[in-house]
Amino acid sequence: MINNKLQMIDDQKEIESLLARRIGLDPTSTGPHVIGVAVRRRMADLGLRDVSEYAAMASGSESEQQALIEEVVVPESWFFRDDRPFRWLSDRVREGWVGRPGRPAFRALSIPCAGGQEPYSIAIALLDAGLPARRFWVDAVDVSARSLEMARRGVYSANAFRGEGEWRRHFRPHARGFELDPAIRSTVQFVQGNALDPKLLAGSDPYDVVFCRNLLIYLDRPSRARVLSTLDRLVADDGVLFLGHADRIDEPDQAPRFVPTGESGCFCHRRATHLNVPPAPLSIPMLAGRMLPEPPPLRMLPVSEPAAPSPPSPPRSPMDEAAELANLGRYDEAIAACERQIHRKGPDAAVYYLMGMIRQAAGDRRAAEDCFHKTLYLDPRHDEALLALALLADRRGDQTAAAGYRRRLSGVSRP
Ligand SMILES: C[S@@+](CC[C@H](N)C(=O)[O-])C[C@H]1O[C@@H](n2cnc3c(N)ncnc32)[C@H](O)[C@@H]1O
Repeated sequence: MINNKLQMIDDQKEIESLLARRIGLDPTSTGPHVIGVAVRRRMADLGLRDVSEYAAMASGSESEQQALIEEVVVPESWFFRDDRPFRWLSDRVREGWVGRPGRPAFRALSIPCAGGQEPYSIAIALLDAGLPARRFWVDAVDVSARSLEMARRGVYSANAFRGEGEWRRHFRPHARGFELDPAIRSTVQFVQGNALDPKLLAGSDPYDVVFCRNLLIYLDRPSRARVLSTLDRLVADDGVLFLGHADRIDEPDQAPRFVPTGESGCFCHRRATHLNVPPAPLSIPMLAGRMLPEPPPLRMLPVSEPAAPSPPSPPRSPMDEAAELANLGRYDEAIAACERQIHRKGPDAAVYYLMGMIRQAAGDRRAAEDCFHKTLYLDPRHDEALLALALLADRRGDQTAAAGYRRRLSGVSRP
């Protein structure tokens, strides 16, 4: 009995270290159950009952490793997420590119790009700022083939639309949700790649702006350092790097490569060399993985193009708050934020869907199903809820129910 338990712990550790080697995943970042749930799902698909057998098989099979990666990654994303970086981008290209036709094309990279919501938001922001498609270039990278397939399809459910804005006019109703204008779709190049790969996008010119949001938060420390090296190579000397609000850069014992510009709500970083930060050890205090405001001397340093003072951050919506808490693995607080929203605004399909995702991430399948059913009650064509229920039915071994959910998904190819 004890031997069995020890063996299970060894197997779990072996799988965790495989995922750490492949994509840098820190198992504590996703909550205790996510990897276990993903492994059981893969074992059910393969008809395996023994975790040791699965661990041995996965360690020798690239394709099984990719299948497991597809199950553990968090593809949560939505259009104009956090909004401010996109406003920054519009202002920047209006000032520096729109009236200057001789300037080389503006280059942007979204890594990781999940289902395309972020790189398409970049393309829309550039077009709406007045920069024609021939004058910019947007590359988008993700390790998940499933997410890239969704990105190339360009069809999204209501869950990808959490904010208001003129940008919504670029979508038209589609049987499965909303479809992005194909002309905008064609401005983004999607590439499957790993942010840990030292040769990623080798040969590409550096980018004027790189969005690397909501990746570092899931990685262990050595992997964060590897990603930072990749970013170091990919951000142009006078380019900027946008991180997510909870992503951390930890280089406390070496010269900083990127430093925050201090613009409110943007999580925007420039190269230290560009800000003339001397290559001395960095002593910015770290608190819970986030940098405290820069010390005064850093703030006083001249920046070549000072940013206009920005208005105070708008309050975060309860949905944003819930998604952010979930991304941090704080599931109970995320659920509480969703419940507050329902209490305040009444039942809403998008909120129930998010609650289902959170319950699932927390390993509570029954509660997740209940939330997805509520989503469908309010929005019978909610694609993601149908897909989630199909996968949950698969895992219960209920093929009839799974097929029923999949039939309702017909019309658009699904992963
Ligand atoms: C939460 S999404 C972030 C998407 C987008 N940047 C945003 O902020 O909305 C995280 C994404 O990271 C991808 N990912 C995880 N590890 C990766 C790696 N090592 N290289 C590239 N992509 C990775 C996942 O597939 C997933 O799509």
